[in-house]
Amino acid sequence: MGCRGYVGLFCLCLAVMTGIAQGLEVVDELEVKVIENGTVEAVILDCPYTVDEEDLGLVVKWFHAENPLQVYQWIVGELPQALGILADHVDLEYEASEDDSHRHRAIRILNPTTELTGEYTCRVSTFDVDRFVHRKLIVYSRPANVHVWAEEEGEDSVKVICDVEDVFPEPKVTLHMKAKDSNKKMILEGAKEEKTWSEGLYSTKVELIMEEDDLDGPTHFECEVTIPSTDVQVLNKTHYQPRVHEMAGAVISGSESRSAVSVVVSLVFLGLWRF
Ligand SMILES: *[C@@H]1O[C@H](CO)[C@@H](O)[C@H](O)[C@H]1NC(C)=O
Ligand SMILES: *[C@@H]1O[C@H](CO)[C@@H](O)[C@H](O)[C@H]1NC(C)=O
Repeated sequence: MGCRGYVGLFCLCLAVMTGIAQGLEVVDELEVKVIENGTVEAVILDCPYTVDEEDLGLVVKWFHAENPLQVYQWIVGELPQALGILADHVDLEYEASEDDSHRHRAIRILNPTTELTGEYTCRVSTFDVDRFVHRKLIVYSRPANVHVWAEEEGEDSVKVICDVEDVFPEPKVTLHMKAKDSNKKMILEGAKEEKTWSEGLYSTKVELIMEEDDLDGPTHFECEVTIPSTDVQVLNKTHYQPRVHEMAGAVISGSESRSAVSVVVSLVFLGLWRF
């Protein structure tokens, strides 16, 4: 968005009169970079702008939102510097452009790891004006384990548990159920969730207690783990055989034979599910 010809002269006059440089503009489109931890050598966050020759004192600074400190600085004509959490993570030789006013505006982050996740802001300044470009970087780590199982709870309930270990960032965990003879998968609402955070990774345990009467015979429970803003989806499932309950006063089966039957049936369904 340069000022050229008569328009440029007008702009320049206006700039001189008002003390506002018209030349510096940024291109701030929402850009989210999503990468898996430990899989890429480098990721580039760029800070595109247009600048006129009369814009003096051009400085590019990058900030990481979760960290009040600056992570990068480049004063045009000098060498760039990486600071704070990016201190040992930037390729300072990287050139976004051969143009002197753009050469080191971008940061090329080496071996990006989960702790570098977050919002980044590039602040481009001249003596007269400041402009901002926003970037988002997500470095995710897939869950190490997703275990789901169902256990008898009291006389007539079942407890479904999904245990998700070591994932980043915070995942979304959903339980589903599907009757054995049905294709309809239903979301189970109202599960209780317990999250923990350790050494930069989340673990979460989701639990839901249901009445066995609400199940339509043998049931598959599925646990779905997704990471928002990424296409990561990890599923695991388990099979549950509801107990046989007394109906209309008649006891249908004894408890010992019942559990033997349910173990056999479970194994059969587990087999079916696999194939
Ligand atoms: C991310 O990857 C790095 C390098 O491959 C590894 O050292 C680190 O443990 C990983 N971090 C997580 C949270 O998985
Ligand atoms: C799914 O569950 C099975 C049985 O518990 C386990 O062996 C497997 O590793 C789990 N899969 C994932 C992705 O965690």
